[in-house]
Amino acid sequence: MSLEDCARNLRIAAISDLHILPDESDKQLLECIRERVEEIDPDVFVIAGDVSDHLDILTDALTKLHVAGSTNLYVAGNHDVWFEDTGGPGTLEKYSHKIGEACREAGFLHLPDSPFVLSNIAFVGSMGWYDYSFRRHDLDIPMENYEKKEFRGAVWYDLFKIDWVFTDAEATSLFNQKLEYDLKTLPKHITQVVYISHHLPFQNLTVYKDRLPWDFYSAFMGATSTGKILEEDGRIIISISGHSHIRNQMSRGNITAITVPLGYGRPDNESLQDFVRDAVAAIEIDGSVVSVPGFVKGDLSADLTYAPSR
Ligand SMILES: [Fe+2]
Ligand SMILES: [Fe+2]
Repeated sequence: MSLEDCARNLRIAAISDLHILPDESDKQLLECIRERVEEIDPDVFVIAGDVSDHLDILTDALTKLHVAGSTNLYVAGNHDVWFEDTGGPGTLEKYSHKIGEACREAGFLHLPDSPFVLSNIAFVGSMGWYDYSFRRHDLDIPMENYEKKEFRGAVWYDLFKIDWVFTDAEATSLFNQKLEYDLKTLPKHITQVVYISHHLPFQNLTVYKDRLPWDFYSAFMGATSTGKILEEDGRIIISISGHSHIRNQMSRGNITAITVPLGYGRPDNESLQDFVRDAVAAIEIDGSVVSVPGFVKGDLSADLTYAPSR
């Protein structure tokens, strides 16, 4: 693509939270997603995390999803950095090294390792984290419960599967500092930035349901401090995230923010193409105008069979 073309028009295909099943069960799903992305024919294909908590499944899935002719970008999700019960690398090693290796093997760039620049647009990525700033204050749940990730028997499962030494506030701060560093050190000619994360930068992307434990879990969706960094930078035009399994779209100043999860549900084979068509977001950047034509909001998996044992 020439510099002129890119300044005029850029197409991105985006999806997240595939939560791929082991044993080839999702072979058709992966094929269907790749074919849909090929049909969109994007300049950049983005996956915003939560493909698998097993590195071998992640590598295999990314290999099958790789789209020739596009730049393929990945941002790890919390499930991708869960340590595995069979041993192997811990959370920090996965995020710092292993996910990047898996991406390289599959022809993807792990965006949090280093921003990707296309003409005047930079893609900046971060797993992001949560600091309970999205919690519902009116529920009066003690801070201790958020720190322990447990309320009345309901547990946020990162408790058992994340083994780094940071508190959630420390992890959020580290990711924020890396984001600020990446933004500060972009080449001078960059005028627009696409932010891709797993956790959410804006509370308004979170969907509350006035019931527990759902609204307790909402505290683990993201951090308002990350959104402030994006707003203050002034160059961010779109933010693409995963993690929340309810798709949403909002705008904040010049920033369009979306979540693009597929989720845990699996339709029958006849409905697979429609399901995937709804799940892959197609984003157009035309100068300063961002559009997401046909974007589907809501929970794509709501009425589908929940596929356990990931
Ligand atoms: Fe997820
Ligand atoms: Fe997640």
